[in-house]
Amino acid sequence: MHIRILGAAAGGGFPQWNCNCRNCQAVRSRQPNVRARTQSSIAIRGDDAAGWTLVNASPDILTQLQANPQLQPARAARDTGIRNIVLTDAQIDHTTGLLMLRESPQPWPLWCTDSVFADLTEANPILQVLQRYCGVARQRIDIGEWFSVEGSDELRWQAIGLPGRPPPYSKREPQSGDVIGLLVEDRRTGKRLCYAPGVARVDAWLFELMSSAHCVLVDGTFWTDDELIQLGVSRKRAADMGHLTQSGGMIDWLDRLPTGTRRVLIHINNTNPILVEDSAERAKLTEHRIEVSYDGMEIVL
Ligand code: MLT
Ligand code: MN
Ligand code: ZN
Repeated sequence: MHIRILGAAAGGGFPQWNCNCRNCQAVRSRQPNVRARTQSSIAIRGDDAAGWTLVNASPDILTQLQANPQLQPARAARDTGIRNIVLTDAQIDHTTGLLMLRESPQPWPLWCTDSVFADLTEANPILQVLQRYCGVARQRIDIGEWFSVEGSDELRWQAIGLPGRPPPYSKREPQSGDVIGLLVEDRRTGKRLCYAPGVARVDAWLFELMSSAHCVLVDGTFWTDDELIQLGVSRKRAADMGHLTQSGGMIDWLDRLPTGTRRVLIHINNTNPILVEDSAERAKLTEHRIEVSYDGMEIVL
C-alpha cells in the first residue's frame, strides 16, 4: 500500500498565519533547519488501485492537490485521483477542505462515524451545504467493524474508537466515535498501517492494535503539555485538546513497539520544537528511531 502525507501539520499549519513563535518566525525568515507544512491530511491507495482515498480534508487541500500530481486530473474533462474520503473526526482542520471539493460531478463517497456526521450536519452543517453542490454519498463507519471503500478492494479498513471529544464548535456531549484512528490492511500482503492523528492516551488495548501494525502514523502535536502556555500563545494544555505529548508518554509507548515497527509522527503543531531539524528534541526522537513526517513524504508498506 502507498501512503502519501499531504499535510503533516496540526490545525493552523506551519507557519500559522498569526503566530509569532520561534518556529513560525524561522520558516518566514527561511531558516534552512525548518520546513513549512500544510494542515493534516493523508492519501492512501492499494498497490494496484489507481484511485486514492483521502483521509481527512484539510483547509489546505487545494495547495496539497497542486503539490501531488498523482491526485490531479489526467483521464477525463473533469477528473481527480481521489475516489473516496474518510474522516477521523469533525475538526475544522480535517473537514474544511470538503467545501473546496464541491465542483465534483458526482456525490463524494464520504466515510465517517455517526457522531462526526452529526456535527457536520448540525453544529457545522457543511455536508448540508455540499448537498447543494456535488452531493455526499455518506457511508457509515462503525467502531471495530472492517469496511472497504469502493474501487479499492485490496485494502480493508477498521475504525479504532479513541478517547477524545467533539470539536469546540460542537453542541453535543462527548460520545463514542468523536475521534477515531484507522487500521488499514493490505489484504494480500497483510501489511498494516495504524493512523491516529489525535491520541489523548494510549491504553493497553490501543497499544496492542498499534503493535499489530507495520507502521504507526500517530499524534505528534505537542512536545510538552504546557507548550502553548509557555510560549504565551494560548491557555490550553495539550491534554485539554486531546493530545498525548511526546515527552509525556508517546516516546515511551513507541519505544515498546516491536523492533521492526516504523514509527512516524504526524499532525505536528507549529510550536513543537521537533520541527527544528537540529533541535535537541528532534535528536531525541532520532535516538528513539521515531520519524517526523513532512508534506510529500511517501510511505510504502
Ligand atoms: C487539534 O486537533 O487539536 C486541532 O489541530 C486544533 C485546531 O484545528 O484548531
Ligand atoms: Mn487537529
Ligand atoms: Zn507558531
